[in-house]
Amino acid sequence: MSELKHWRVEHDDGIHWWRIDVADAGANVLRREVLEELEQLVEAARTEPPCGIVITSAKDSGFIAGADVHEFTTIADEGQALELIRRGQGVMDRIEALPCPVLALINGFCLGGGLELALACDYRIALDDPKTRIGLPEVRLGIHPGFGGTVRAIETIGVLPAMNLMLAGSTVDARKAKRLGLVDDRVPERQLEAAARYWLKKRPPRRRPAWHQRLLNLAPLRPLVARLLGRAVARKAPRRHYPAPWALIELWQQHGGDRRAMFAHEAKSVARLICGETARNLVRVFLLQDRLKSLGRQQTFRPTHVHIVGGGVMGGDIAAWAAVNGYRTSVQDTRPEALAATMGRAAKLCRRRFRSWPHLGTAALDRLYPDLEGSGRAHAGLVIEAIVENRTAKQSLFRELEGQVPEGCLLATNTSSIPLEEIAEGLQHPERLVGLHFFNPVAKMPLVEIVRGQATSDEAMAHAAAWSKAIGKLPLPVRSSPGFLVNRILMPYLLEAILMVEEGIPAVVIDRCATRFGMPMGPLDLADTVGLDICLHVGRNLAEHLPSDPPLTVPRHLQRLVEQGHLGKKSGQGFYRWPSGRIQRPKAPPGHWDRDRITDRMVLRLLNEAAACLAEGVVEDADLLDAGMIFGTGFAPFRGGPMHYARKLGHDEVQRRLNALAEAIDVRFRPHPWWSGDTKTP
Ligand code: NAI
Repeated sequence: MSELKHWRVEHDDGIHWWRIDVADAGANVLRREVLEELEQLVEAARTEPPCGIVITSAKDSGFIAGADVHEFTTIADEGQALELIRRGQGVMDRIEALPCPVLALINGFCLGGGLELALACDYRIALDDPKTRIGLPEVRLGIHPGFGGTVRAIETIGVLPAMNLMLAGSTVDARKAKRLGLVDDRVPERQLEAAARYWLKKRPPRRRPAWHQRLLNLAPLRPLVARLLGRAVARKAPRRHYPAPWALIELWQQHGGDRRAMFAHEAKSVARLICGETARNLVRVFLLQDRLKSLGRQQTFRPTHVHIVGGGVMGGDIAAWAAVNGYRTSVQDTRPEALAATMGRAAKLCRRRFRSWPHLGTAALDRLYPDLEGSGRAHAGLVIEAIVENRTAKQSLFRELEGQVPEGCLLATNTSSIPLEEIAEGLQHPERLVGLHFFNPVAKMPLVEIVRGQATSDEAMAHAAAWSKAIGKLPLPVRSSPGFLVNRILMPYLLEAILMVEEGIPAVVIDRCATRFGMPMGPLDLADTVGLDICLHVGRNLAEHLPSDPPLTVPRHLQRLVEQGHLGKKSGQGFYRWPSGRIQRPKAPPGHWDRDRITDRMVLRLLNEAAACLAEGVVEDADLLDAGMIFGTGFAPFRGGPMHYARKLGHDEVQRRLNALAEAIDVRFRPHPWWSGDTKTP
């Protein structure tokens, strides 16, 4: 056997331990070279079988994160993809056929190809810890499992649990994995290796699903079950945008009863999907996410104490999130009732996040304390301001803070619209002020804009990005300018939708156009959810401060609704009615609507604003802009981001359509000069 770069092998008491440790990588991924080495190990074990084999990871970060997504981008065509997939399938088949028992010892995440490898083993034991996440999330990359996972997942846990796991692309913790039968046991860290030895010695029969799950695999029942699965998928992943879940259902429906055929068609199906537009764009999104994460890795910054000033909607939730993610956090507000509400919401969050580990939830809550007097300021390494959106209030707060916090403390503001330069006025050290612009709701939204004011130092930017990454958020550096990046680009799209309502197009028709395009929710539904008063405030602020020509106008209809007290979901009435907080969507009235034009009006205004942001250098490049819009607003991920979509359409075509709309409707559609000028495409 040639020398191994990615596996460490130990022999001990007749058991072979294969510890994966992919070179030059923080997490183990199944690159071609890693699989080739695994092939060698399997071949050696086949010719000279040990008493048992344990496949585990030498990295603390986890077991195996899946296939190497970077390799996907090097696949030129279906033929090449098929070769790669068949090779992976071959290794898994040979592991399954080994004459000795093989056990996967899962010490952390075990995803995609990692789980497919584990499923090819006879037994699986997982570390009982919240960091263990197990799943087959391939649909998120526009494909489905390809290394035999579709077959073995069904054989191991049964049709419905396996299909649901693969179709949703979700991950489960060790406890749920044990309940589902994905793993045979879950044990604490100190018992992992002893448990592996015990199972290899005891050699119980391999796990099989319950009889009724095996029944569902029979040919007469498959079409029925497939229809039910399709119905659930249709709600989340329309076939024209996301073909992978549908391909998986079809694969199972046609070949579920025939193991060999299922393997063969699994490979073909993944090869086809991986070369398709959706998978290429979703892989792009994955890599963009990686890029944002890497921006947070350039420095380490672990403040021992975080202090939040302002315990309202945002400050309270940021404080709770910081505590959940391991930071000792104090939260200050002038109103005790705001702090009481914050603690109540934090308790709820902890219960939800640590459902299976209540002691961890209690520990997180212990890290958070309400601080009416602001005693936390004196020993904070990071202070985040989230008080009311008022320039003078923020200025005087930061001046006060400067004299109270330790030297080197990072000062951050969660302002959504006030330029950092204005907030920094009068500060002795404006270089340590940075924007940390979170999105609402904090626990759900993955993006944080890291806002650079004119005086902000590189170190402050790097520290803010590092901290955002440390609390599990994606940092996006942007320049301080009206609305920063995400809200600024979203606003013209929202306002255009409202203008169309003013023209008499039903809200439900407009929203349908947006969701058909691939947005997670329609703009009017979104406006109602955010609150029409907030939309009006942001719109007015942008209209006042944006250097755009022609200027942004705020529709009168929006002002009227707010004057009438129709604020959307929170008041029970906005563009829709919201009885008991749930949207009541009327049926679209009869009539002919030019849906392509409606979609274009919204999307092209969004694209035009994005072009303006690139021209003004609000964000470094088009890829980062795409990342911001995908993770900040959910912009149709299968389209790869707005600028990627514009590139696909062609910048000439974008201009042509904008010009046509400008001529037919209004100058607000006039194409930004960026489209025809310096289009620094990456
Ligand atoms: P909010 O009105 O819910 O909370 C503000 C809190 O600050 C209140 O509880 C108030 O009592 C407290 N406060 C005011 N002055 C104070 C002082 N000097 N010291 C201590 N506490 C003080 O406001 P919200 O929505 O949480 O917004 C806070 C900041 O976050 C604003 O700058 C806003 O623009 C920004 N933001 C808001 C988002 C949203 O969706 N609500 C999204 C992103 C940013």
